[in-house]
Amino acid sequence: MQNLLVTGGCGFIGSNFIRYLLKESSFLGDDSFFTGRIINVDKLTYAGNPESLEDIEKEFGNSRYIFEKADICNIKEIERIFDQYDIDSVCHFAAESHVDRSIASPEIFIETNIRGTFNLLECAKKKYDFSLIKGSGKNFFLFHHISTDEVYGTLGKTGLFTEETPYSPNSPYSASKAASDHLVRAWHETYGLPVTISNCSNNYGPFQFPEKLIPLMILNAIEGKELPIYGDGKNIRDWLYVKDHCSAIWLIMQKGIKGRTYNIGGGCELENREVVEKICSIIDKVINPNVRKSLSASSKELMRFVKDRPGHDFRYAIDCTRVKQELGWRPEESFETGLEKTVKWYLNNMKWVERVKSGDYLNWIKSHYTI
Ligand code: NAD
Ligand code: DAU
Repeated sequence: MQNLLVTGGCGFIGSNFIRYLLKESSFLGDDSFFTGRIINVDKLTYAGNPESLEDIEKEFGNSRYIFEKADICNIKEIERIFDQYDIDSVCHFAAESHVDRSIASPEIFIETNIRGTFNLLECAKKKYDFSLIKGSGKNFFLFHHISTDEVYGTLGKTGLFTEETPYSPNSPYSASKAASDHLVRAWHETYGLPVTISNCSNNYGPFQFPEKLIPLMILNAIEGKELPIYGDGKNIRDWLYVKDHCSAIWLIMQKGIKGRTYNIGGGCELENREVVEKICSIIDKVINPNVRKSLSASSKELMRFVKDRPGHDFRYAIDCTRVKQELGWRPEESFETGLEKTVKWYLNNMKWVERVKSGDYLNWIKSHYTI
């Protein structure tokens, strides 16, 4: 993989993945070190911030890291990028990713998550077909599709999602991701495109847009604002530190069997109310007690149970035996260590937070890029 197209690289997981690949992919030993260049294609929606990769831009910009502001729904642009950079592999993150937004405005989810994936598959297929012609000098190695455990629907109090669990998506977001997974699978079965798919549970860590549960609660607690917990707070998610997700993706991209799906999860099931309580305990510990007192005795006092999300999936939990046994993946971070790192990261990066929340990052982008 010398010219790897990463889509959605300015988002939460994509930016962590690019940093992981360029700086830390020696996780598995020298032979797994990524030596190629990354072409990051991102439309820069509200969730995409090139500032999240400022260090990468400085260290690798124009040599091993190239940023292209483009929409995956614009097939002409994607074709140009495939040709211009001689793309030989794809890691596809770009998506509309927030369930609440998909409930309020589903159309863009259909467009980006389904149409966008279709466009990328078509461009990859063209390149792959070329690579089958002997002596064409063109290669295409892999289309890796990033998906979610939400395609499996919801669990009751027991059981785990395996790769064989039938798809049963409940929200417009998860339905659009399920559709994109089916497209990727079909392009493998019908056209022989070399693909792998990973379905992961809830991620947390640095650079997550503060609309998702963990960063929203961290920032509200820091600011002494209410902590809105949907329903009775007993819904369960399986949490994974983002860097551990990145190491699993890279392992699957290198060693996964083509055409296969791999589930990835943290083996860390918690009720939402427990997650919020843990965040509050860390905030109470790390923020100066005098500052804390001026807000409230404990952040837990800020917890509020609010109207539930429509169609709220009760429980997600992942069986990731396949990625562990077949490929030897192990997460490194426990929820306690990962959450503390995450809280401290937000406390130390309030400028990033202020900019992404205010939309002011557009000015930052204009001063750094010609767009
Ligand atoms: P995110 O919302 O933080 O980032 C999405 C990125 O995609 C942004 O940079 C955005 O600008 C870009 N994008 C959106 N539409 C685009 C378009 N039309 N063209 C080009 N770029 C576009 O999302 P995330 O949380 O980093 O999720 C990344 C992927 O991982 C998604 O496919 C999501 O479904 C999947 N996933 C996320 C989680 C999680 O917990 N966050 C868990 C499992 C799977
Ligand atoms: O499971 C993987 C999925 O995890 C990814 O595919 C999605 O892209 C990602 O957004 C995430 O989806 P969730 O809906 O599980 O994440 P969210 O952070 O929005 O919510 C987590 C849980 O917390 C969920 O049960 C809803 C609840 N919640 C969320 C918010 C934003 C609250 O109680 N209050 C809130 O304010």
